[in-house]
Amino acid sequence: MISKRAADIPPFVVMDVLERAQKMAREGIHVIHLEVGEPDFDTPACINDAAGRALAEGHTHYTHSMGVVELREAICAHYLQTYGVRVDPDQVLVGNGTSPLFFLLLSAILEPGDEVIISDPHYCCYPNFITFLDGVPVTVPVYEEDGFQYRSSAISGKITDRTRAILINSPSNPTGNLLSERRMRAIAAFSPYIISDEIYQGLVYEGKAHSILEFTDRAFVLNGFSKLYAMTGWRLGYLIAPREFIRPLQKINQNFFISANAVSQAAAITALREADGPVRRMLDTYNRRRRYMIDRLKKMGFGITVEPTGAFYVFANARRFSQDSFQLAMDILEKAHVGVTPGIAFGANGEGYIRFSYANSIENITEGMDRIEAYLKRR
Ligand SMILES: Cc1ncc(COP(=O)(O)O)c(C=O)c1O
Repeated sequence: MISKRAADIPPFVVMDVLERAQKMAREGIHVIHLEVGEPDFDTPACINDAAGRALAEGHTHYTHSMGVVELREAICAHYLQTYGVRVDPDQVLVGNGTSPLFFLLLSAILEPGDEVIISDPHYCCYPNFITFLDGVPVTVPVYEEDGFQYRSSAISGKITDRTRAILINSPSNPTGNLLSERRMRAIAAFSPYIISDEIYQGLVYEGKAHSILEFTDRAFVLNGFSKLYAMTGWRLGYLIAPREFIRPLQKINQNFFISANAVSQAAAITALREADGPVRRMLDTYNRRRRYMIDRLKKMGFGITVEPTGAFYVFANARRFSQDSFQLAMDILEKAHVGVTPGIAFGANGEGYIRFSYANSIENITEGMDRIEAYLKRR
């Protein structure tokens, strides 16, 4: 009675590492977690307070299926202020995180056999989302020497009459790199729609991040509150779409999800309007950790050709130590007691790399780096 699509969808590879790490912790072993993909900070107090007020005021009901108007207006104000782009609140659909909105979007645009271009390496769920909805993920390898940015010549070679969209993610998980303005502009000029996962926008330490909406209106933007505002557990995100897609998206949303969480929406309005101070403090802290981690990893012999300037990841070349990233990650866990994510979890072209997350305290990062250094010396 289990559908083929449910039987076939792969689990998160990183879960294997995490579950092994949890088992070790139960055995009394102290593990440092550098495999995690979520902020270690608690949600800023002003956002929590807004949620408390919303509860006290009885905001405990379904909301408009597109999301509370005030929140959609705040999202448009944010895009205008940050990127100088005008978005109408009627083009914004609020949902319970970018992940369910990916499901919604792909279900609205894909017919069986339609292709979506993704980079390799990529966020591990992308091919699973596409395949689950009977689409075909088409991978374009991206390379360390380019800072893992797409080469537009490589994209154009993969566009067919079945290509429905090109998916971009800047700043990127797993690489932490940004797409340059020049490359983004070139991608925006291709004829398929662009799906731009902007969930790490704002987490930028050098250079300027761009939204795809600066270069084209033929784009779907996915963004949310999980990363920048340390709100992973609140489950809130949004999709900005061209007008002609809004009604179909709204109808699917009404049927499957009804509306996003009311309390989270109230909190998110405050996140956009009042959380600049705490966000800046988190950014300063991430940046210090980033500099420290890059420095330590390089000294140990990991390859970092283009230093990552966004998100909270370092995607380091570990081929000097092993060709098998899964084996290496497991060995680091077993022998150094540090959780890291193998590059293979992010696509075949991620093999030979390890993703390190600096969403952890500087003390834990220091201890993690010390342990890995000692492990590499004695192996
Ligand atoms: C690239 C990317 N997109 C989307 C998500 C999911 O975000 P959300 O919490 O909004 O569902 C993640 C989470 O790790 C991510 O790394």
